Amino acid sequence: MAQLHLGQTIRFYGDPLVDGPEAARHDSRGGVLVQDRRIAAIGTADDLRAAHPGAGIVDHGARLISAGFVDAHAHYPQTGIIASWGKRLIDWLNTYTFPEEMRFDDPAYAAEVAGRYLDLLLANGTTTVCSYCTIHPASVDAFFAAAEARGMRVAAGKTCMDRNAPEGLRDTAQTAHDQSKALLERWHGRGRAEYVITPRFSPTSTPEQLEALGALWAENSGCLMQTHLSEQLDEIAWVRSLFPQARDYLDTYEAYGLLGERGLYGHAIHLEPRERDRLAEVGASLIHCPTSNTFIGSGLFDMGLATSGARVGLATDTGGGSSFSMLRTMAAAYEIGQLRGIPLHPAQLWWLATEGSARAMRMADRVGGLEVGREADFIVIDLASTPAIAQRAARAHDLWEALFPTIMMGDDRAVAATYVAGKAMKTPGA
Ligand code: GUN
Ligand code: ZN
Repeated sequence: MAQLHLGQTIRFYGDPLVDGPEAARHDSRGGVLVQDRRIAAIGTADDLRAAHPGAGIVDHGARLISAGFVDAHAHYPQTGIIASWGKRLIDWLNTYTFPEEMRFDDPAYAAEVAGRYLDLLLANGTTTVCSYCTIHPASVDAFFAAAEARGMRVAAGKTCMDRNAPEGLRDTAQTAHDQSKALLERWHGRGRAEYVITPRFSPTSTPEQLEALGALWAENSGCLMQTHLSEQLDEIAWVRSLFPQARDYLDTYEAYGLLGERGLYGHAIHLEPRERDRLAEVGASLIHCPTSNTFIGSGLFDMGLATSGARVGLATDTGGGSSFSMLRTMAAAYEIGQLRGIPLHPAQLWWLATEGSARAMRMADRVGGLEVGREADFIVIDLASTPAIAQRAARAHDLWEALFPTIMMGDDRAVAATYVAGKAMKTPGA
C-alpha cells in the first residue's frame, strides 16, 4: 500500500551554490507519497491527501522531511579508531589506521564493524555512502553484505596499496587488478551496490599498480573511481619525490588513466592552477571533507570552486574525519567557508549533504532528492531536538533560520526517522 508522509518538505530545483538559495523549495505543509520503494508523488499535504485517499498516512507534524544524507567519502574500517589524538596524515596512517586495517583480514571482524558502521550512519540520517574498504577482499564482501541486509544504496571498493604500507597490508599490481575485477563482477549492480575502483593514493601505489587500475577503469567506465588528492603539504612533497616526472599530484593519476568524469578526488585542498583547470575540464568530482581537514590539520578547502561550478561533494571522511554525522560535517563546512570568506547559506549546506554529494557520485537520478521516481531514501528532522536548539529555532522567521541551529548544533538526536527504500530503519520516538 502507498504511504503518504506529511510534514515540512525541502527539495531543490537547481544548484544553490551556483543559482543561489532560491534554488531550494520549502513547503511548510508538504507530503511525500511512497509506493514500491520509490517516491511516487510530492506536493502539498492537502493536494496529496485529496489525490490519494487510500494511502496510509504517516504524519510527522512540524518535522522536516528531506532526502537522506549522502556521504561521498568515508573509510568504514576506521570506525573503531575515529577520534584518535594528535597526529598528522602520514603519522596518523602509520600509527592508527594501518594497524586497524590489518584486522580486516578476519572476515568476522569486518562483518561486525560494517554492521556497526552502517547502523551509525542510519542513526545519523545517512542513507548512502561511498566507502573505502581495506586491501582484503573479504572487507568488501562484508560491507556490501551489510548494506544489502539493510537495503542501502552504497558504493565501495577494495583499497589497493602495493608500497609504503606494512607487510600484511600490501597487494601487488596484478592482485589489486584481479581482486578488484572479481569484486566488481560480484557486486557492481547487484541490488543497490556499486563497485568503486579504489587506489588509496599515489604514495601507496607503484606506477604499475596505478596503470593496472587505470586499465580496469577503462574496461569498466560505468564504475566510479575514488582516491585522495593533495590533502597535506608533506604528502604532496612525498608524491613529488616518488613521481619526479609528474607535472603535479593530479598527473600521477592522469598519466595512468585515473582521471575521469566518474572520478572522486578526496580533499583536493592544495591544488595547482593546472590541477584545478584539468579537474573542471573533465568534470571530475572534488570531495570536501571538512571535519577531517581540520582534525588532521590538512588545510581549508576552497568552496569558491563549487560556487564557480565545479562538481563538489561533501563527506565525513570517517575516521580521519571526527564524526559520522553529516550535520556536524555541514557545520564544519560552514566554519571553513567563514575562514575563507565564503559564508555558505543553509540551503547550500543542505544541498551539498544530499543532492550535491549524490551528483558528485553520479547517483542523483536515483537518490539525493525528494523527486518523483527516485528511490525513497529520506529522513525526518526534528528542528527542536535539544533545549539549546529549540530555544534558538523558536525565534526563527523562516525555514533557514529554523534549520541553521540544527546544522550547527545538531547530532543524531535531530534525526527523528530514517527511511531506506520506503522502509523505516530508525523510527519516530525510537
Ligand atoms: N590518504 C590516504 N589514506 C587516507 C586515509 O585513510 N584518510 C585520509 N584522511 N587521508 C588519506
Ligand atoms: Zn579518505
